[in-house]
Amino acid sequence: MCGIVGYCGLRPAAPILLEGLRRLEYRGYDSSGISVGNDGKLTVIKKMGKIKNLKSHVPEDLPGTFGIGHTRWATHGEVNDENAHPHSDASGKLTIVHNGIIENYIPLKEKLMAEGVEFKSETDSEVIVHLMASLYDGDLEKAVKETVTHLEGTYGLVCVHADEPGRLVGARNGSPLVIGVGDGEMFLASDVTAMIAYTKQVVYCEDGEVVSLTAREFRTTDLKDREIEKKVDKVAWDLSEVEKAGYSTYMEKEISEQAESIHRAMRGRISTENASGILGGLNLSNQELRRVKRVRILSAGTSYYAAMTAAYMLESMARIPATAEFASEVRYANPVVEPETLFFVISQSGETADTLFAMRELKRKGATVLGVCNAVGSTIARESDGGVYIHAGPEIAVASTKAFTSTLTVFYLFSLYMARMRDMAFHNGKAMVEALELIPGKVNEILARKDELQAMAKKYLYAKNFLFLGRGINYPLALEGALKLKEISYVHAEGTSSAEMKHGPIALISEEFPTMMIIPNDSLREKNISNLKELKARKGPVLVIATEGDTEIADIADDVFYIPKTMDILTPLLTAIPLQVFAYYMALGLNRNVDQPRNLAKSVTVE
Ligand code: M6R
Repeated sequence: MCGIVGYCGLRPAAPILLEGLRRLEYRGYDSSGISVGNDGKLTVIKKMGKIKNLKSHVPEDLPGTFGIGHTRWATHGEVNDENAHPHSDASGKLTIVHNGIIENYIPLKEKLMAEGVEFKSETDSEVIVHLMASLYDGDLEKAVKETVTHLEGTYGLVCVHADEPGRLVGARNGSPLVIGVGDGEMFLASDVTAMIAYTKQVVYCEDGEVVSLTAREFRTTDLKDREIEKKVDKVAWDLSEVEKAGYSTYMEKEISEQAESIHRAMRGRISTENASGILGGLNLSNQELRRVKRVRILSAGTSYYAAMTAAYMLESMARIPATAEFASEVRYANPVVEPETLFFVISQSGETADTLFAMRELKRKGATVLGVCNAVGSTIARESDGGVYIHAGPEIAVASTKAFTSTLTVFYLFSLYMARMRDMAFHNGKAMVEALELIPGKVNEILARKDELQAMAKKYLYAKNFLFLGRGINYPLALEGALKLKEISYVHAEGTSSAEMKHGPIALISEEFPTMMIIPNDSLREKNISNLKELKARKGPVLVIATEGDTEIADIADDVFYIPKTMDILTPLLTAIPLQVFAYYMALGLNRNVDQPRNLAKSVTVE
């Protein structure tokens, strides 16, 4: 989704802004632009399409040591140069970049137009710059504060004025902003990735804060001009983690890292002595956790499928009723908050607007909400009552892969912890710990055979549609497999429970309509095999992910990919991998942009 980077210092700003924007490409965008200040003037260059296109229009020697840049993911108005940010006022002396949505932009625009203001774009964001220009009297920070009091909606906003050289002013409400503190230079971005090449010292801004930066200092105040003391944090990862490291795509890299990322999610979180999980950061005592009667897990997209899998774990391992829900639905459903219900929100980015706003709504009603996030310092991680980082490392490809398996890992540990303080016997906990510890090695065994999946994908490149089926704890995996395929290959795919197939989706089946089935050797295998036979009776091609040694399946299905044996309940950590790899090779075979699929954004910061 939209990205922001701002710079003030001693170096030429343009190359730093362009490099920052390049690092933000992964978020998904359709146009980009920069505004650079020099000698009482701002130069604005903005173009639709890729950063490469923008870069080709920026003179190499563009003078100016302060400026702002933006990648736009269209919400209001089509994709074109005019709608790209930065937006300028009539004098060209003030420019702004904005992430979020201004909900009351129509009345504001009408009022400004009645006053004679001319609009150049169809965006909601442009009202901000004209409104600010009308309030500006030589003090940009003051103008920003006055402007935002008129705005309804969400914003991460950064502004520059030609008459205040070397100053950036930003404000935040619902869209992230992070200050980067360099040596004699400062950055202001929507995402640490934009500035990690220059500094690891960061300050996270909160909603309601306004920040004013010059090369040497930053000042953070609230809208009433009261100073806010801020803590400088150090980013724990470095540049190499956001590079492709020899892989042709980020998605391939992130799929390949999963043995290590699953291992990291477990590291230091297993007690062999108690045959249980150890999760610091929950901020709840064992007594409080024992009182939990119900768990509700809120999230979106792949994180929602992780939530469904987690709910299954909690019920079956810890015997706690648990449900997964779309955060976007819960927010507006006037959720009932009971003291015995523990809420979780899952978000890789920690910035997903649907999930963040649902969490705030629950907290307003007195709920305890724990966050499971990957991005350290993200808004959900900071605002939740406690939680767990999955430590998957930066995930750059739009399609989530390693964050999914790391989130599952964290929930296995949490479920184990809850189970062991309730009904689960020591020997069962011990068996689970031992099986979990073997998972990274088994993930690597699967990845070593990815060429089998590549060959399988090649055979099915003709397919315009795909059905994904699974049962029990692998039912959400079928949904996730379908999501992975559709989002990166654009092949229509839908997932459902193998059992549900006969209640409707079977009508779709023909020789041209393949199905991917997940059939591990678990208690539901026989039922799954009946469903497989129903598909074959209708001449539907079927690919199966099965457990090694299950030769009977190979006799019935068209193609089989074997995964190593593990405990029934842990199979999602293994079935996820071939589903991801299959989708990846389908997308490559169809020449898709695997890392930045069309229309999608990595971090969806609007509702
Ligand atoms: O950052 P989050 O986990 O909150 O993101 C949620 C979804 O937007 C995300 O999982 C999305 O569905 C991905 N494109 C899936 O690959």
